[in-house]
Amino acid sequence: MSRLSEMVVALAEKLRYRWNLLVRYQDAPFGPELQEAWNHRYELFSRFDEGIQTDAIGLYSVTPEKTAKEIADRLKGLTVVDAFCGIGGNTIAFAAVCPKVYAVDLDKQRLSKARHNAGIYNRSNIEFIAGDFLQLASTLTADAVYLDPPWGGPSFRHKPAFYLNDFSQDGRQLLELSFRHFRLVVLRVPEQFVFDELNQFGRPYEVQDNLLHGRVISKTIYFV
Ligand SMILES: C[S@@+](CC[C@H](N)C(=O)[O-])C[C@H]1O[C@@H](n2cnc3c(N)ncnc32)[C@H](O)[C@@H]1O
Repeated sequence: MSRLSEMVVALAEKLRYRWNLLVRYQDAPFGPELQEAWNHRYELFSRFDEGIQTDAIGLYSVTPEKTAKEIADRLKGLTVVDAFCGIGGNTIAFAAVCPKVYAVDLDKQRLSKARHNAGIYNRSNIEFIAGDFLQLASTLTADAVYLDPPWGGPSFRHKPAFYLNDFSQDGRQLLELSFRHFRLVVLRVPEQFVFDELNQFGRPYEVQDNLLHGRVISKTIYFV
């Protein structure tokens, strides 16, 4: 995308966000610290008002719809394990372009919200699996695995640098396990992630900047 079209997209996103804030403002149901995330709910799910379900963790950790689509477009046509599916932001986007998605989450209640949310988007090619991805990895067969492990709560923003061991699951162990079982491994990281750490794996990778409102909100690493 050219710089000019990026700027136009960013402006359109900002205007849509301001408009929603003006006409659809609501106090966040999970307290003032999640007001900002709640204000962005229509960017998280464009069909939010059709009955999207979330809890507090799901709300602040879900991948915005635009970003989820950008990531899914890179995995189009492949079978995918969404190893940390949360309330289903990525799962729903994968299911739109991938023949089969295995959506895994440790938290049964969050997984059931993901199932419900996928129903709102009429996605039926998803198998939801409750459990620990680290235990389940060897039992799953797919072309690709998408890793979006917790970043340690909203405080990750205050870290000047983010390392593999800052994920709530040790990132190094997670990657090694994933390299053993899947041909294509994809990892979503915060903007301040330290890429030098990836040299130890000796695997080539490409990085996608995920922009929202013209700002990088995350980076997605595709190990090829
Ligand atoms: C950052 S959120 C994922 C958000 C998701 N990509 C979305 O768009 O909604 C991380 C999720 O990982 C789950 N989780 C944490 N440890 C896990 C594990 N060992 N195996 C599977 N899921 C786990 C948490 O319950 C949480 O829902």
